[in-house]
Amino acid sequence: MLRDRGLLPSDPVPCRNDLGTAAQRYFYQTGHAVEVGVHQGRLSKIFTSRWNGTYDMIDPWRGPAFGYTATDQQKCTARCNQGKSGTNDDTDWIPFWKHIRSTGQCSEACNSNTSANVVDVPNMRIAKQNIAKAKDRATLVRKMSHEAAPQYPDGYFDFIYLDAVHTKDGLLDDMRIWYSKLRCGGMFAGDDWGDRARDTDFMTREKSQRLYGGAPDWGVTSAATEFARSVGVQLMVTHAGGLGHAWECRKVPSWYLVKS
Ligand SMILES: C[S@@+](CC[C@H](N)C(=O)[O-])C[C@H]1O[C@@H](n2cnc3c(N)ncnc32)[C@H](O)[C@@H]1O
Repeated sequence: MLRDRGLLPSDPVPCRNDLGTAAQRYFYQTGHAVEVGVHQGRLSKIFTSRWNGTYDMIDPWRGPAFGYTATDQQKCTARCNQGKSGTNDDTDWIPFWKHIRSTGQCSEACNSNTSANVVDVPNMRIAKQNIAKAKDRATLVRKMSHEAAPQYPDGYFDFIYLDAVHTKDGLLDDMRIWYSKLRCGGMFAGDDWGDRARDTDFMTREKSQRLYGGAPDWGVTSAATEFARSVGVQLMVTHAGGLGHAWECRKVPSWYLVKS
């Protein structure tokens, strides 16, 4: 067992939801946790029901339309005018597109030069509702990851969960920025273990493709593996995937490690 070998203070963590329980039970020291990439705050709701410390939620809440090329822009505007998602039909984004349509912001939201000005009001509101029970200790921080990180001192957090950028280089950048904000012995984790570039024992390229649809350069496995090697710590992955587990566990594993 990892615990017996001193790699982890707890038993191996089966599901991403259990990372909140493990954080509270085995990592609580400074009393601060952060989730980077929050969207509707579904996971924030689960984590704040298990974690009793402060909980910062970082997300720009600006919608998925960054980086549209000229051709995409037309397609995006057309779909937005029908109240549909601009990139795919991911139901989580429907409230955003309906709102943008009703406020007449389709052209602005679908233009890469102006999309940053368009606030994802509906999903931010849903996130706020989702942490209502923890509102005295949970804070929505409407910033990009790299803008938010410098506001915290080094070693501030017991627990950091990354679920924002999922490309290899983007995630590696996030990992480097946020790792310094974690105390030694704190838990570093993130979602969506999988990779477009290579198969691993438990997540094939084919499965990643199926799960993540159109995302062209998913590189969570590569980033997490490379990062863990660079800092010389053991990388672990949640292992519950079978029927009988919550859908969050069945969908994809989360990675996690303990800062040494
Ligand atoms: C997969 S969703 C997060 C889901 C959430 N963690 C959960 O499990 O319920 C990804 C979120 O990351 C946000 N995001 C994307 N790039 C980001 C960045 N550079 N900084 C902060 N948030 C980012 C998006 O706005 C989106 O809401």
